[in-house]
Formats: sequence, C-alpha cells, structure tokens
Amino acid sequence: MNKKTYIVTGANNGIGLETSRALAAEGAKVLLMTRTAEKGQSAMNDILSTHPNADLENFVAEMSLLGDIRKACTSILEQHIVIDGLVNNVGTWMSNYEVTKEGIETVFATNHLSYFLMAHMLYPALRKSEDGRIVNVASNAHSYGKINIADPGYSKNYHGLKSNGQSKLANLYFTFEFFNQQPDHRVSVYAVSPGLVKTDIGLKHTSWLHTLAWKFRRRKGQTPAEGARTSVFCATNPDIKGVSGKYWESAKQKEVFESAQNPELGKQLWALSEEMCCIKDYFHSSK
Ligand SMILES: NC(=O)c1ccc[n+]([C@@H]2O[C@H](COP(=O)([O-])OP(=O)(O)OC[C@H]3O[C@@H](n4cnc5c(N)ncnc54)[C@H](OP(=O)(O)O)[C@@H]3O)[C@@H](O)[C@H]2O)c1
Repeated sequence: MNKKTYIVTGANNGIGLETSRALAAEGAKVLLMTRTAEKGQSAMNDILSTHPNADLENFVAEMSLLGDIRKACTSILEQHIVIDGLVNNVGTWMSNYEVTKEGIETVFATNHLSYFLMAHMLYPALRKSEDGRIVNVASNAHSYGKINIADPGYSKNYHGLKSNGQSKLANLYFTFEFFNQQPDHRVSVYAVSPGLVKTDIGLKHTSWLHTLAWKFRRRKGQTPAEGARTSVFCATNPDIKGVSGKYWESAKQKEVFESAQNPELGKQLWALSEEMCCIKDYFHSSK
C-alpha cells in the first residue's frame, strides 16, 4: 500500500503538533506547516524523539498572509503530486484588533481565509488521492459566532470573543459550502471540534485579563494529544470515507448550533472569501 501524505497547518505546537505526531505514528508522510523554519525544525525534532522513523517535511508560511500561503502551496505542489489529507488546524486568538500587511484583520485571515485558500490551492493534488480529505478544525465557540459580511474584521467594534466566534463559525460554513459546491464530491470534508484543550492559544496575543481567563479555563481541558484525536480520526478512518460535510466531536457526528444553520449565510461567506482571496475558479474546473 502506498504511503499517505498529509499536510497539517499550525503544526509546531498544541493540537497541530499532536495531530502531526499521530499521523506520523500511523506511517504517513507528514508535511508540517509552520511560521518559521526554526519552529518547524523544533517540531520535527520533538516528533522524531518519540517516533525516530517518522517521515516529516517542513514548509514555512505566515498563515495570515494569502501571498505566503500561495507561495508555500506552490512549493508543496512542485514536490507532491498526490495529497491524501489537509488538516486546516492553524488558529489564533487576539484580544486586540490587528490588520495584516495585506489589509485583512488577522484572526479572519488566519482562522478562516487560510483554510479556504489552502483547500483551493491543494485541491488538484487532493483530487488525485483515492480518498482525499480536508479536515477543518472548528470549535463549539461557533455557538456565539456571527458572520459579519459587511465588516468581517469587526473593525468598528472588535472583541476577541466576536472574532474567534465568527472565525470558528466560518470554519463550519466553509465545510458545508465546500460540500455543496464541489461538483462531484471527490474530496471529502470534515469539520471538527477538538473540545477544550490545554494549549497556549489564549496566552500568545491576549490582554492580561484574557490571559488570566484562559489560564483558569484551560485547567479543565484535555491534553493536546486527546484534542488531536478527532482530527486524526476524520483524516484517516476508513469507515467514514465519503461521510462528507458533517461536524464531528469525540470521533462522532455532532449537531451544529443554530448559528450554523443558515445556508444563505454560507453562500454569502463563500462569495466574500472568493473575492478576498481573488479566486475565480475554486475547484479548478474539477481537474
Ligand atoms: N485549545 C482549545 O481548547 C481549542 C478549542 C477549540 C478549537 N481549537 C482550535 O484548535 C486549533 C489549534 O489550536 P491550539 O489550541 O492547538 O493552539 P496553539 O497551541 O496556539 O496552536 C496554534 C498553531 O497555529 C500556529 N499559528 C497561529 N497563527 C499563525 C500564523 N499567522 N502563521 C503561522 N502559524 C500560525 C501557531 O504557531 P506559533 O506557535 O508560531 O504561534 C501554532 O502552531 C485552532 O484552530 C483553534 O481555534 C482549540
């Protein structure tokens, strides 16, 4: 049997590092996407310390920048004709409003547009797999999310909770709309809730109050390895091949909250994302 190839974004720590480790432990080749080469090397060393035969490669991209993502995907496609799975895991939580040098609010760019653009760029290689899959790491935080089509960066009334809730809701609408729009369902798509996981996500770009709140909240969280379980399940489990366009938690299908039950909003978000990413033919005319 051919070795499978997976890509994991946000792979240098937390849930992404453990997702990469678990996929490597199953004998797959894992391409780790990280912000810098140093972070990539340190993540690969960490995985090799527990799995010395792991087959790993690193690709570098600042995932809030569409130009960086396009460049990294071009290098990936030059070296890999077939990709079996893309795990869109990268994520950030920001207390303050910030805009990237491309003029997009950073959380919307990182947590949603990176997922949307990665899937578009890698789609031709995912189609070449017999069982190509995209896993979008979402969250139950979608319950309080609102998609703000007119101002997706919440430039007038930004709050970390609003931008996080919106971005995690966007992961769900992206999953459902990808399923609806893909002409032939060749590539399967899964949205995942990892549950509450003890990572550093709420300590990196947060105010002292949000840092304190996350330190308190995460005490009840699972380990990152437990948090990676549903991502790995959806990326690899043969029994759910083709069970596409659903939401998963604890390796089971789950109902979404009401906020994610407006298909019209999903269509509007898709159109907005295509426009922001300058994409004319999302599915490459299905070639
Ligand atoms: N932890 C939870 O309880 C929880 C719950 C629900 C959903 N999630 C979701 O799970 C996913 C992983 O989060 P986590 O908790 O594992 O957090 P984490 O430990 O902070 O991991 C996030 C990863 O994304 C990377 N990243 C963030 N911004 C980036 C950028 N602009 N460019 C490149 N890489 C970037 C980080 O790299 P750096 O180290 O360089 O920052 C890190 O590798 C996220 O999508 C999050 O929304 C987490």
